[in-house]
Amino acid sequence: MTGAALELRGVSKVFKGRVHALREVDLTVPKGAVFGLLGPNGAGKSTLVKILTTVVRPTRARGTVLGRPLGTKAVLAKVGYLPEHHRFPPYLTGRQLVEFFGALANTPRAVRRRRAAELLDVVGMADWADKRVTTYSKGMQQRTGIAMSLVNDPELVILDEPTDGVDPLGRREIRDILVHMRNEGRTVFLNSHLLSEVEMVCDSVAIMLQGRVVQQGTIESLTAHSRRFEIRFMRLERERLRVGDQEHAIERDGDASRLMLPHATAEQVQPVIDELRRLGAVLLELRDMRESLEDTFLRAVRDPATGRAPPPGASMRGRAGEVSS
Ligand SMILES: Nc1ncnc2c1ncn2[C@@H]1O[C@H](COP(=O)(O)OP(=O)(O)OP(=O)(O)O)[C@@H](O)[C@H]1O
Ligand SMILES: [Mg+2]
Repeated sequence: MTGAALELRGVSKVFKGRVHALREVDLTVPKGAVFGLLGPNGAGKSTLVKILTTVVRPTRARGTVLGRPLGTKAVLAKVGYLPEHHRFPPYLTGRQLVEFFGALANTPRAVRRRRAAELLDVVGMADWADKRVTTYSKGMQQRTGIAMSLVNDPELVILDEPTDGVDPLGRREIRDILVHMRNEGRTVFLNSHLLSEVEMVCDSVAIMLQGRVVQQGTIESLTAHSRRFEIRFMRLERERLRVGDQEHAIERDGDASRLMLPHATAEQVQPVIDELRRLGAVLLELRDMRESLEDTFLRAVRDPATGRAPPPGASMRGRAGEVSS
């Protein structure tokens, strides 16, 4: 028995003897986490979730899903799944759809009725529950699909591009639903192209490229190497600052000046601030900066071998989420 919701080792899939969709994928998803699988089109994300849900048979694989060997059909009773490019039967209403999938998951009739009503309310579809799914917008279809994926009260929810085609407001609502799922103690496995969203909601991520996982970890750990502190100040005109045995370059920044401290800790920043103030500088801003997930992703996609050294001028993101260049 493992503490992880998912533990995959060496998962490979070759379609028709020639398309290498997955190559030796190792992946660990902790229980109770929101996990994001990122990757460009064709990276193998959907193939991987289809293997998890036994829709596709792997060429080689070891691992567990909720503590049971990969490929065990019985485990699907505890798994919820929203496939990509799903097509709902057009003659069903939202309520019928959710109840129908509840029936497929062997949920007793009374339970699935109650859960369908509750879930359609959670995803904001209560008022539309008795209208046909063909009258729904894309965002409403996705929200109904998420309700459908929860009808069997799953421990693990797998959502393949849940915000595909959904407008910014709808995406925000879906993000809130994901957080709600985590608060209920479920593990959420999300495939997505939308990096800023993943950054907002995911505890950990993996970046997949041409069937391989090239980076994996918390967003914090994947962006840690790019961390730096930036101090903005005015009323001190000089090009360098010496603190202890370290020399720091000072750049002009409009009417102000700027000093960067790459790879510094908050403690190491304090003597620099003391020295600036001793010299009469007026502090304007102290920012704890790191690369955005988007930059990490683009670098991994461009150069999977190194995956390091942010290009000059790459956008950095402060803790408060603001972007500077
Ligand atoms: N049934 C299949 N038969 C043959 N090749 C397939 C099949 N399914 C997927 N592939 C191929 O496997 C590779 C991975 O596809 P997959 O759909 O898993 O990518 P993805 O990361 O989900 O992409 P997207 O972001 O576009 O959804 C692609 O080259 C795709 O063409
Ligand atoms: Mg896909």
